Amino acid sequence: MNEPLKMPVADFGVKTMVPTLNGTGFMFKVRDSFAEEWSSYAGTIGDPVLEVGCAYGVSVIPALEAGATVTACDMEQQHLDILADRVTDPAQKARLTCKAGTLPDIDFAPSSFGAILCSRVLHFLSGEDIDASVANMARWLKPGGRLYLVADTPYGIWRNFIPHFVANREQGARWPGMMIGLHNWLPTPGIQKHIDKPPFMNLLDAELLARACREVGLTVERNAFIPRPDFKGMGYLDGRENAGVMALKPLA
Ligand SMILES: C[S@@+](CC[C@H](N)C(=O)[O-])C[C@H]1O[C@@H](n2cnc3c(N)ncnc32)[C@H](O)[C@@H]1O
Repeated sequence: MNEPLKMPVADFGVKTMVPTLNGTGFMFKVRDSFAEEWSSYAGTIGDPVLEVGCAYGVSVIPALEAGATVTACDMEQQHLDILADRVTDPAQKARLTCKAGTLPDIDFAPSSFGAILCSRVLHFLSGEDIDASVANMARWLKPGGRLYLVADTPYGIWRNFIPHFVANREQGARWPGMMIGLHNWLPTPGIQKHIDKPPFMNLLDAELLARACREVGLTVERNAFIPRPDFKGMGYLDGRENAGVMALKPLA
C-alpha cells in the first residue's frame, strides 16, 4: 500500500509557510483575522460552510473543531487527500466533504452555504475570472451569508511591483496588480523555484476586493490590509502584506 502523502516542508527555513504541490505558492500556518473569523463563525451556524482553495486545511480544520459542517474545495486533489488524512476524529470526518474543482468553473447549488472563505486564491486569476468567481460565490451563499476574501497585495514579497501598481491605478486600470513573469519581480532567489509556475499574478488590495463584492450585490462590512508578521523572516514588513474583505449577502 502507498504511504499517505504528507504536507511538504519549505526548504528556506520559514516553518509557517507550507509549499503547495501545484506551484500556487504557500499555505500559511498562521491564520489572519479574516480566516480566523470564518472558522469560528462557521462553528456557530447550523448551515454548511465552504472554503475554496483550502490547501491542506489551515482554516478548515479549526472550523471542523469548532463544530462546523465544511465543504473543502481545491483545484489540487493531492491537497484534499492530505487534508482528509489530517482529520482523524470520526465526528469531524463525518462533517467534512472534499471536492476538487477550479475557480471560476467549479459550481455549487445556489444558496448552499452560510459562509464562504477564499483565502489567497483570487490573485491567481485574471480580472474577468475574479469577477466571475466572486459572482459565483455570492450565488452559492444563503441570504444573510458571509463571504470572506483574502488576497496578496504588492506590499509583501512583491514590493518591486509597487511603482507599477501605483502607476497603473493612476492611469485608471481596472486591475492595476496584473503582474506577468513573476521572476522579474521576486526579490528572494531562495523561493524562486516555488513561484515559477503561475505565468502571472493579479495582486489586489482592500479596495479592489470590496469593489468585487459590491459589484455582485454584496454589502461590505469590513475591508482592510492585513499585516503578516509571520513574513518577518523574509525581511519585508509594512503591515499591508495581504488584504481582506468580509461582505454580507442581503436578506432576500
Ligand atoms: C496560496 S495557497 C492558499 C492556501 C490557504 N487558503 C491560505 O490562505 O494559506 C492557494 C491554494 O488555492 C488553490 N487554488 C489556486 N487557484 C485555484 C483555483 N482557481 N480554484 C481552486 N483552487 C485554487 C491551490 O491549489 C492552493 O491550495
